[in-house]
Amino acid sequence: MKTIEIAAKIRILDESELTLDQKNVVDAAKLATSRSYSPYSHYKVGAACLLDNGEIITGSNQENAAYPSGLCAERTAVFYAQSRYPEARILKLCIIGKTASDIYSKGVCAPCGACRQVILEAEYRNGAPIEILLPSQQGIYVINGISTLLPFGFSYDEVTE
Ligand code: THU
Repeated sequence: MKTIEIAAKIRILDESELTLDQKNVVDAAKLATSRSYSPYSHYKVGAACLLDNGEIITGSNQENAAYPSGLCAERTAVFYAQSRYPEARILKLCIIGKTASDIYSKGVCAPCGACRQVILEAEYRNGAPIEILLPSQQGIYVINGISTLLPFGFSYDEVTE
């Protein structure tokens, strides 16, 4: 028998330790929570992508009376970024959630499984990992690439000969 071990290091930074680029993407995601359309869950999620052309593209969760038809904030942001600037690389992605009483959630707003798969594809298009920033009341989790959150993600390699 063989075993493999999967380990990951996640840095947790104070706001004062963020670079200017990190701070700008976190601020953009915070602002994007205000544009959430979430009348069903009342959980407002904002996301922001920093692109290598300097643009910051934001998204927020968009819900629907037919629940599965809604979309998460980070997928909205990533798809918008890729449809607006298909040649650009996504360098950083921040996701943040606010509760019904407009308070930032205690823990991180970690991307759901489907969003992790979409972020994996964005990294594939990039040819490089995306830095994922997840603010929480304990600090900002900084994750260098989706493989930390999605080990064994389904990749392009599997569908090519
Ligand atoms: N949601 C996001 O937008 N991103 C996440 O990472 C987790 C969940 C949204 C989907 C739904 O509109 C609401 O949060 C509650 O699940």
